[in-house]
Amino acid sequence: MKIGIDRIGFATTNKYLDLDELANARGVDPNKFKIGIGQNKMAVADMTEDIVTLAINSTLEYLDDVDLAKLGLLIVGTESGIDQSKSASLFVKEALNLPNEIRTFEVKEACFGATAGLMMARDYVRAHPNHTAIVIGSDIARYGLNTSGEVTQGAGAVSMFIAQEPKIIAFEEGHASYSEDINDFWRPNNFKTALVDGKYSTEIYLKFFQKTFDAYLNQNKLTADDFTAITYHLPFTKMGLKANRLAVAEASEDSKARLEENFEYSTKYGREVGNLYTGSLYLSFLSLLENAGANLQAGKRIGFFSYGSGAMGEFFAGELVSGYEQYLNKELHQQMLSERTKLSVAEYENVFTETLKDLPEDIELSSDVTAGKYYFAGQNGFARNY
Ligand code: HMG
Repeated sequence: MKIGIDRIGFATTNKYLDLDELANARGVDPNKFKIGIGQNKMAVADMTEDIVTLAINSTLEYLDDVDLAKLGLLIVGTESGIDQSKSASLFVKEALNLPNEIRTFEVKEACFGATAGLMMARDYVRAHPNHTAIVIGSDIARYGLNTSGEVTQGAGAVSMFIAQEPKIIAFEEGHASYSEDINDFWRPNNFKTALVDGKYSTEIYLKFFQKTFDAYLNQNKLTADDFTAITYHLPFTKMGLKANRLAVAEASEDSKARLEENFEYSTKYGREVGNLYTGSLYLSFLSLLENAGANLQAGKRIGFFSYGSGAMGEFFAGELVSGYEQYLNKELHQQMLSERTKLSVAEYENVFTETLKDLPEDIELSSDVTAGKYYFAGQNGFARNY
């Protein structure tokens, strides 16, 4: 039975920061951010945007195509959740009017959370072939003003509808996992921004890529040449580029140019929004699908490298399904990115500082998010309203 991604939706914040302007404000050469890090813009979430609103808005994109009677599972992967106990997925389920009979919960392992959800959904659909699942990766990456991680912040959600006989990509059997208990990036309960050992985190990311990529090749008797493209968790595009260089080093001359070109297509959206944490790998995949054009063909194999600090890595793959192009929303995504409001550095700093403040027990918030989209409307007795 073929199981995979049948629909895919994407949402990001209404506001962004131009990283040339951030570089100038921080006294850094803009080429460091644009070339050295590989990022152009960064999504900025205001008080009325959180992982729940992003998760809802990304799923609304395709929900009309879903037969709700068959939906059995809803998983939200996140590491920037809004409650220590109640799952974000319950807010999402309520807003989207999903059936009360579904199983729903939140998953955490840094940026790996959505992949954990995806693998559970794959197994769930295999065990219940007439049922389907929704998996969402939704996050807001915050390191803090004037930190070395600042340029690698971002926000957004990717929502995937998982079904048998999928319309976009069918996953191959198997996966290669690798984990170690390390401190490369973490966020204690009393912190609103992440702590990170930046250089160490980049070394570990590459080590985990090499281990899981090689293990997957051995397991499935493949070589790097068997992939038309490899997509990566992209905390910033230079990170993925370094991993792709490792993959390309194992490829023949014929495959190198293809893997390099397709890598560039997979980074187009990530460069505009920054790190989505759990959603990042799946935004790379969406970016590849919507930008590679004739470089991608049905039946070809695409690799996925998922990495979550702490740390957990996984490599898996799938084959593009014939006619996948008809199920994409390229124009909608490009319009969404181009219609965002640009913030000055001072405005970004204000928004950022505001979002770190504790809210009072009761508050009502108004929002300038695009009409038809969900926003966080405040709280009563600390219970959140959307
Ligand atoms: P930094 O101190 O800015 O790094 O920190 P740098 O000074 O080494 O500069 C970065 C690159 O810019 C270097 O290139 C420089 O040469 C280049 P590289 O050697 O790497 O190829 N550069 C220039 N290029 C062109 N023109 C110039 C110029 N100047 C310098 N003028 C760091 C960078 C990424 C470490 C920092 O931003 C950080 O700590 N970010 C957060 C951590 C992170 O994203 N880690 C990634 C791996 S871990 C992961 O992916 C998991 C994560 O998503 C969390 C989770 O799982 O939940 C983060």
